[in-house]
Amino acid sequence: MNLNRRTFSTGLSTLLLAPGALAQTEGHRIETSSVHPVKSIQDKETRAQRDARMAWWRAARFGMFIHWGLYSIPAGTWNGKQIPGIGEWIMNRASIPVADYKALAPKFNPTGFNAHDIVALAKAAGQKYIVITSKHHDGFAMFNSKADPFNIVDATPFKRDPLRELAEECKKQGVKLGFYYSQDQDWTAPGGAALKTGDHQPPTFHWDPAAQDGNFADYLHKKAIPQMKELLANYGDFPVVIWFDTPTKDMTPELAGEIVTLLNQHPNLIWNNRLGGGYKGDTETPEQFIPAKGYPGEDWEACMTMNDTWGYKSYDTNFKSTETLLRNLIDIASKGGNYLLNIGPDSHGVVPAPEVERLREMGKWIDVNGEAIYGTQPTLFGAEAGAFSPTEKDKKGNPKFIPAWDWRSTTTANKIYISIFNWPASGTFHLDKLPRKVTSAYLLADKAHKPLKLTRNGDSLDVHLPAKALDPIATVLVLNT
Ligand code: GLC
Repeated sequence: MNLNRRTFSTGLSTLLLAPGALAQTEGHRIETSSVHPVKSIQDKETRAQRDARMAWWRAARFGMFIHWGLYSIPAGTWNGKQIPGIGEWIMNRASIPVADYKALAPKFNPTGFNAHDIVALAKAAGQKYIVITSKHHDGFAMFNSKADPFNIVDATPFKRDPLRELAEECKKQGVKLGFYYSQDQDWTAPGGAALKTGDHQPPTFHWDPAAQDGNFADYLHKKAIPQMKELLANYGDFPVVIWFDTPTKDMTPELAGEIVTLLNQHPNLIWNNRLGGGYKGDTETPEQFIPAKGYPGEDWEACMTMNDTWGYKSYDTNFKSTETLLRNLIDIASKGGNYLLNIGPDSHGVVPAPEVERLREMGKWIDVNGEAIYGTQPTLFGAEAGAFSPTEKDKKGNPKFIPAWDWRSTTTANKIYISIFNWPASGTFHLDKLPRKVTSAYLLADKAHKPLKLTRNGDSLDVHLPAKALDPIATVLVLNT
């Protein structure tokens, strides 16, 4: 089995990943269980067991990602200089010495943090689960960790555990909770990995070697694995998801196997494809893009920022419109994926107003049209998403995918949902090659569900629509089948 080196592009430069990490080609997974020193749940379970374990996640379709930590204090500026790139990477991009970065902790007192309001916001937006950064690449634990003192309870005046407060609120409000954990990169723990930015040099890319150099396995055994044990044991029914990130060559199959041994003790846990060591996990994780055709037959989740950063940056106001965010959600659902949409609270623990506004607006649409998203299957059509250009090439030299934005479709046992973005001026919505017999049709936003006139012609159908769309972003046409 040739587990060739792979790269995947994120917001940063191309990252060199460990052999075997993400050992898949676009959409097709290479079964790597043969190289797993420790069998994972995915290696052992039957299809039926997997379907049962993944059921809630597949039906959820829409989640909230939360990037929050010490990096919200500099908020993209260091020593008066704006540091380019995603905010949570400021320590790496500005080559901040460990001691200087750790000195942020005594200044971190986010008394504006309100777990109830954040969970209620996710709920109002229609996000069924939350994934929060319990520890990001900077090594700071946003939870009460006995394993390492560089944490929000022991190292800051805040002294509260936001993960505990979120876990309690999620339980109360019926929202599921997962934890992002940077298992590999840790820029403040000796031996923690660091990935290259700027002029950082191989093999460690450490910019403060005296404080950062060390043995990776020691870092895992002294900090990462004990902390993962705490996260898996101390928060009741949660986490239901572990979100790993940026696996490096240091994460050998053996070391990853030690983490899998821990994960196997939580058989319902869902974890992504970023652990490393040749473990594929449960979910593909395209980042900041929506794959042209999704990952047919795979569980996948597109994670995305609302502006251009995951962690809060005070001057990043490049927010996507609610229309773009909603059409992304509908596009992703039509391709059988989940949308993990990020918020980045500031150093007071307050969610930036533009993010609150967009989530509330998305929620209004979902309140009316949620049945076209939750618990649905992908489109039975496909061409509506766009086509690969016969001439243009993408960055990788592959035929470029040109998306079309007229409509998208999702499916349930006896309904086909058509989310119309571009209302037909002709007043007639036409479909060719109908995959099922359509018995009647109505608009979801029309409370009376008044039947629409249908004209059938062989396996094509014309649906006679009212002159104006019922929703400027997307009007859902429901075809009973
Ligand atoms: C990338 C970034 C990381 C971010 C993650 C979110 O891996 O390195 O900062 O948390 O994407 O998907």
